[in-house]
Amino acid sequence: MAKDKRIIRFGVIGCGLMGKEFASAAARWCHLTDVGFEPRIVAVCDANPAATEWFVDNVPSVVHAYGDYRELLANPDVDAVYCAVPHNLHQQIYVDIIRSGKHLLGEKPFGIDAEANSAIAQALAENPDVIVRCSSEFPFYPGAQQIVKWVNEGRFGRIIEVEAGFWHSSDLDPTKPINWKRRIATNGEYGCMGDLGMHVLHLPLRFGWKPKRVRSLLSKIVPERPDGKGGMVPCETWDNAILACDVETDDQRFPMVLSTKRIAPGHANTWFIRIQGTDFSAEFTTKNPKQVASLPYEPGGAQAWHVVDAPYKSAYGTITGGIFEFGFSDSILQMWAAFCDELVGQGGAGMSQPFRCATPEEASASHLVFTAALESERTGNTIAIDWEE
Ligand SMILES: NC(=O)c1ccc[n+]([C@@H]2O[C@H](COP(=O)([O-])OP(=O)(O)OC[C@H]3O[C@@H](n4cnc5c(N)ncnc54)[C@H](O)[C@@H]3O)[C@@H](O)[C@H]2O)c1
Repeated sequence: MAKDKRIIRFGVIGCGLMGKEFASAAARWCHLTDVGFEPRIVAVCDANPAATEWFVDNVPSVVHAYGDYRELLANPDVDAVYCAVPHNLHQQIYVDIIRSGKHLLGEKPFGIDAEANSAIAQALAENPDVIVRCSSEFPFYPGAQQIVKWVNEGRFGRIIEVEAGFWHSSDLDPTKPINWKRRIATNGEYGCMGDLGMHVLHLPLRFGWKPKRVRSLLSKIVPERPDGKGGMVPCETWDNAILACDVETDDQRFPMVLSTKRIAPGHANTWFIRIQGTDFSAEFTTKNPKQVASLPYEPGGAQAWHVVDAPYKSAYGTITGGIFEFGFSDSILQMWAAFCDELVGQGGAGMSQPFRCATPEEASASHLVFTAALESERTGNTIAIDWEE
């Protein structure tokens, strides 16, 4: 029963696509077994009253609906906030949340640009007791968790190369009307990198694979889109990005290709990572969400891919049997469990499993990579990233 669990009272700022995903995850918390905590959405805020109305109609625990997020932040009944608003609002709202002393799961990219991200990092440095994490759910797929385990076990030997990406075809249709995600003023100059890049960088950064140099190829494929009022407007943001990165760790140097694509025909929500090593290679893609592939190799031995159906087993236990399929909303639920687990442990080491949500430091690292990628596109040069700065 929920009464035995530690209840974390949440406010949601931004009640659109992702705000509702959190409502759905919180509503099926009974899916998780053996968790001593539970989020309860008590307050919501959106500039659009229809968006908060959806919560009032569908989430019985909501007792406050606001049009101004400052009112939500002034509510002492709110312990923590999920913020899912357009990128141009991240800086102001995240900084105000952190200063209010409420914990924050913020959506990526954590600021519309590097300057906004620095302001958020500064607010966090001034309020170190606030626990802040960045939303990134795909590493919670069982197949991705399996890859994390193999990397942590050092199975790959010498890394030959890494490829990671997130591909959509959502913008292939040129008649799709413009929205905030296709305008620089609201989405940012990063374009598809700001939208999709944190998802791609989460695991490489977690493994310590920081790009030392970046050469980018950025594409604008659809130059204008319908404005929804009968006219056409410029579609300003980068549609696709390919980043060739040179990774140097303490003992290895290898190439890593990162790609974020809005226009990848045939792909709806394909997040993938492929790692090739001298002893072991592995790959996982949400295109085949049940399957994880691996190729162990011994000198002179056979090179055979093993493709297994990964059991439904992620970071946190669930009521679902191992033979069933894991999906997007399951990964969101797992991410929320990891965030709430950290809140209950006050960010300490006491989590019931070791895989944390993306950190603000990882979000800041992603900004260094995207900023270098923009400079590479502008100059045509390979750009070095100074990680000591
Ligand atoms: N983790 C993921 O898989 C994932 C997927 C999609 C989007 N996102 C991220 O989530 C965030 C929101 O994206 P979305 O797709 O949910 O967008 P959305 O447009 O569906 O929702 C954004 C909401 O913010 C509201 N809003 C705008 N200004 C506001 C203000 N001043 N105060 C309060 N509310 C305001 C809008 O009315 C809207 O309801 C972005 O940062 C985006 O990058 C993450």
